[in-house]
Amino acid sequence: MSSTSEEQTAPSPTSPTSLASVPRAPGAMPLLGHALALWRDPLGFLSSLRHHGELVRVNLGTMPMYVVTTPELVHEVTVRQVNSFEKGRFFDRLRPLAGNGLANSDGEFHRSHRRMIQPMFSRDRITGYSEIMSSSARELAGSWKPGDVIDLEPAMAGYAVETLSRTLFSSEIGLPAVNAVREHLPVLLTNLLVRAASPKLLDRLPIRANREFDRAAAELRAVIDEVVTRARAAGPTGRDDLLSLLLAAQDPDSGTRLTDEEARDELSTILFAGAETTAATLAWTFHELASRPDVEAEVVAEIRAVVGDGPVTALHVPELKALRRVIDEVIRLHGVTLLMRRTTEPVTLGGVALPPGTEVAFSLYALHRDPGLYENPDRFDPDRWLPERQAAGPGRRAYVPFGAGNRKCIGDLFVWTEATIAIATILDRWKLVPLAGHTPREVASAVAHADSIPMTVAARE
Ligand code: HEM
Repeated sequence: MSSTSEEQTAPSPTSPTSLASVPRAPGAMPLLGHALALWRDPLGFLSSLRHHGELVRVNLGTMPMYVVTTPELVHEVTVRQVNSFEKGRFFDRLRPLAGNGLANSDGEFHRSHRRMIQPMFSRDRITGYSEIMSSSARELAGSWKPGDVIDLEPAMAGYAVETLSRTLFSSEIGLPAVNAVREHLPVLLTNLLVRAASPKLLDRLPIRANREFDRAAAELRAVIDEVVTRARAAGPTGRDDLLSLLLAAQDPDSGTRLTDEEARDELSTILFAGAETTAATLAWTFHELASRPDVEAEVVAEIRAVVGDGPVTALHVPELKALRRVIDEVIRLHGVTLLMRRTTEPVTLGGVALPPGTEVAFSLYALHRDPGLYENPDRFDPDRWLPERQAAGPGRRAYVPFGAGNRKCIGDLFVWTEATIAIATILDRWKLVPLAGHTPREVASAVAHADSIPMTVAARE
């Protein structure tokens, strides 16, 4: 790029400044950087960064990461300048688990796979999957009795994994995969964020957590591989599960189809992306509702008016508007912890010139609890989503629970449907009462889930 000597010596007020001008988060330690602060209190640390600027430098060990703290800059990264970014270090670390599935891939490969997979998450398809969501929810609600104390964390994780695996693999051939997912996915999800944020070197330490993780990853991969191979050999089944749809998919532009390995990576990605996120949303919903009996009463009255006596179906979902506000509010409060990108070419962000290869990150959790954007941001207040209050609020750009642009969550309608059906089915039958003396603690993983949410089951009038 050519420039005159005048431009070089006397930058105009709009010229981007260099990376060196970006404020650093306080508290870095030699060699470790901010790793300890991130490890000790990731959510508090990420939320504190907004006090230092709209772009803040954090050191992961010795590697600099530039954290974006405003909705405007998140929009720049995810939408306006999206072509100058690829997925960053976090996703490199996920690759051994989820291969080159949608969440990890970039460029034309990602575009082509997204075109093939998007129709599998259309409204019509989700209406089809919703029968599984509804029957799993009825089975779960039917397995409880008054007086039971249920820890909602594992209970909702079980429901999410069950629903997802039955949506992925509906036939006999898929049974080993469903069982392997039930057994191994919880082990993998527990350790995922720690793995992704730590140096690769630590993966090799011969400690129990690493051994369990590696074994679970290898077994899950092997079983899904086997199922894909057998399903391919068996030929078209006429079924509508995701496995069958992936094997039959074809890119409308290039005509390409997925190889067995690519189908395996996409199935694993959907499992990783869809299980914990959904489970945490469901578990927090019951906790938050118990703190607001007025909101719970409104939601239950709405369920009874809209659904009546039969099972909750996809048709009821758009009508359950008070429940929608509750779910929106739960995902605002307990959302995705940290997302990363890496520049592929020179980029100007917030007036700063970022060279290619710069690691950029943003926390939707921190964004959604910014007191500059949300009144009483830590308060569970579903009515903030009423249209009249939204008009006066920060607007949709400040609320991006599913991301934005070409990497926006492919499962947003899926989870909205699944969460609504599960919550409505359970609330109609049971009242869940928090165990006295217990306050759930937030644990940062892909999302902010709870350590445990024990609740007592009581029959609802
Ligand atoms: C409350 C539940 C969920 C939340 C909060 C959530 C959030 C997100 C976010 C923020 C992203 C964007 C990541 C980025 O920009 O780097 C994403 C991507 C993705 N999500 Fe979700 N998600 C949820 C549920 C699901 C479910 C149920 C599925 C599948 C059934 C799913 C599948 C995916 C996939 C495949 C991607 C990658 C999309 C791409 O890069 O093209 N998610 N999700």
